[in-house]
Amino acid sequence: MAERRINELIEIINKANYEYYTLDNPTLTDQEYDRYMQELIKLEEANPELKRADSPTVRVGGEVIKEFNKVTHEIPMLSLSNVFNESEIIAFYERIRKEGVKTPKYVCELKIDGLSVSLTYKKGVLVRGATRGDGITGEDITHNVRTIKNVPLHLNKDIDIEVRGEIYMSKDSFNSINEERNREGKELLANPRNAAAGSVRQLDSKIAASRNLETFIYHLPNAIDYGIHTHYETLEFMKSLGFNVNPNIKLVCGINELLEYINEWTKKRESLPYEIDGIVIKLNDIDEQQRLGFTSKYPKWATAYKFPATEVLTKLKDIIFTVGRTGQVTPNAVLEPVRLMGSLISRATLHNEDYIKSKGIKKGDIVAIRKAGDVIPRVEYPVESRRDGSEEEFIMTNTCPICGSKLIRKGEEASYYCINDHCDAKKIEGLIHFSSRDAMNIDGLGEEIVEDFYNLGFVHDISDFYNLYLHKEELMELEGFGEKKIGNLLEAIDNSKNNSLERLIYGLGIRYVGNKTAKLLASSFKSMESLKKATFDELLDIKDIGEVIAKSVEQYFTDVKNKELIERLTELGLNMSFNGKTIEENINFVDKIFVLTGTLSSITRNDAKSKIELLGGKVTESVTGKTSVVIVGDNPGSKYDKALKLGIPVWSEQDFLNNIAE
Ligand code: IVH
Repeated sequence: MAERRINELIEIINKANYEYYTLDNPTLTDQEYDRYMQELIKLEEANPELKRADSPTVRVGGEVIKEFNKVTHEIPMLSLSNVFNESEIIAFYERIRKEGVKTPKYVCELKIDGLSVSLTYKKGVLVRGATRGDGITGEDITHNVRTIKNVPLHLNKDIDIEVRGEIYMSKDSFNSINEERNREGKELLANPRNAAAGSVRQLDSKIAASRNLETFIYHLPNAIDYGIHTHYETLEFMKSLGFNVNPNIKLVCGINELLEYINEWTKKRESLPYEIDGIVIKLNDIDEQQRLGFTSKYPKWATAYKFPATEVLTKLKDIIFTVGRTGQVTPNAVLEPVRLMGSLISRATLHNEDYIKSKGIKKGDIVAIRKAGDVIPRVEYPVESRRDGSEEEFIMTNTCPICGSKLIRKGEEASYYCINDHCDAKKIEGLIHFSSRDAMNIDGLGEEIVEDFYNLGFVHDISDFYNLYLHKEELMELEGFGEKKIGNLLEAIDNSKNNSLERLIYGLGIRYVGNKTAKLLASSFKSMESLKKATFDELLDIKDIGEVIAKSVEQYFTDVKNKELIERLTELGLNMSFNGKTIEENINFVDKIFVLTGTLSSITRNDAKSKIELLGGKVTESVTGKTSVVIVGDNPGSKYDKALKLGIPVWSEQDFLNNIAE
């Protein structure tokens, strides 16, 4: 009686798991599922002799092993050769073609960034899960593998089979585990791959059970024995047995389709809920695979195209401090130079004292570097296992590295500031900011040139840019400058005098006045003269301007030095009025956050951005939960996929134009 009910319950729960985890189409409610599970647990407790090896109750973990047993892989678990760019992909393709392969069909797959696993089934029941180890000898991790929800404990057919695939952790699970660890003050897990590997290397299976691991199965070493002759059919077969096979596989014919798949997924990879580190290319015909065979390490019929790494390890040689335009003193990493996504990196940001302390980063550590937002690289975490004792604790400086003034830490902020207005570093940064794209947008006046001009004594404050023409002869003498280059530069400087007021306001570098606030101020006050006279209350009356900004603006214009600067700029002929239109609030745009992707045909991206801002919206670069609308042009990138995934409203170019017109 009990046995029959146990069998029945196992069947119901296994089916529910398959529908939930593999088909993504549950038919039982959570409550029903829990009820069946509880009933099964109770029956098994009362009748321990009836507990089956494939009982879904093993998913909750609890089995604890004393040590990892060694496992020998009868068919070695090989790794894949790597290619890193298009010409190497083509060379791989050509090499196989020259071997006389008749049907150049390939299966393209995502290269899941986890750890490989071998799963063995006897009569359809999972009996062993093992790591790859060195390819010949791995470790028995059956107790942990049994807790992974989409690993079938019982296949749809009672056959003997060994399959291989990848255990991984989704980005969401990784983030929520780290959030919890952070709350509990525990050390953070470095990345989803390490987190997955660490989870299966636990003796107590409760830990793996709590980690939400998942699998994709992609290889059947002896497919021919099952009467299968193509890799594509192998994947279909494994799917039919109940394994989770990645849905983004594609059978391609010829090199063009192959490169197309690679390009598509290189763009879309960020939108996936798990990390991938490349694309695997496998010859489809298994008889041809066998003819080509293996080297000692790799199959000759497959290869992995590896994406450029987004994270690399290097030595943190020193921590130095720099001063920004606002006086903020930031710790920066001096690194042993490394290549990352095409550029040689020797500096990275460390944000502030709190960031360094929370990550436990020490001078001399081996650290992971990542391109945050793909622009400024950032130190992510130290590799503690590589410490040798020579590392030094980080100590935040309390004086400005340029002028030596004492730094202050403002209220709640994690940052330290140099409040000496005459500090050289702040001056140079202020000058760079003035000429930057969102401010006066002076072509040819980049960071290094501004710094050189300052150090050579040509510019001390921003008004000096407009007197540079007086030094034309001297400037032409400088290394790397000719008459033409200086001519263009002086012309660009002269043209910038006509900029609308908001650019100048932003360029002044008033604390808390970003370019959106500068636009608000310019469109509200229309001229520098009225802005200068504006009282604290008048400033506060403007929508979106709070006390902090109002106070900062008021303070700026009470400083005599600043007043004199504005006077000099007026005398030099800079435009002091607002040329643009006032913000025309449009209900479709007000207070919404927009992201643009793809090519718009009737308007440039910059114009679209200005238009959105003019109508009261904001434009940001990446799609997040806060994004209100994604505007999609031709050939959209991964932002489009992300919008669909997050269920964010999407506008076509026409929708955008209609909404403007309304
Ligand atoms: S096929 C003989 N397919 O990448 C075939 N491997 O760098 C062997 N990997 O050890 C592997 N996704 O851990 C294959 N779709 C995929 C894969 C994949 C990730 C891993 C696997 C392998 C490593 C090689």
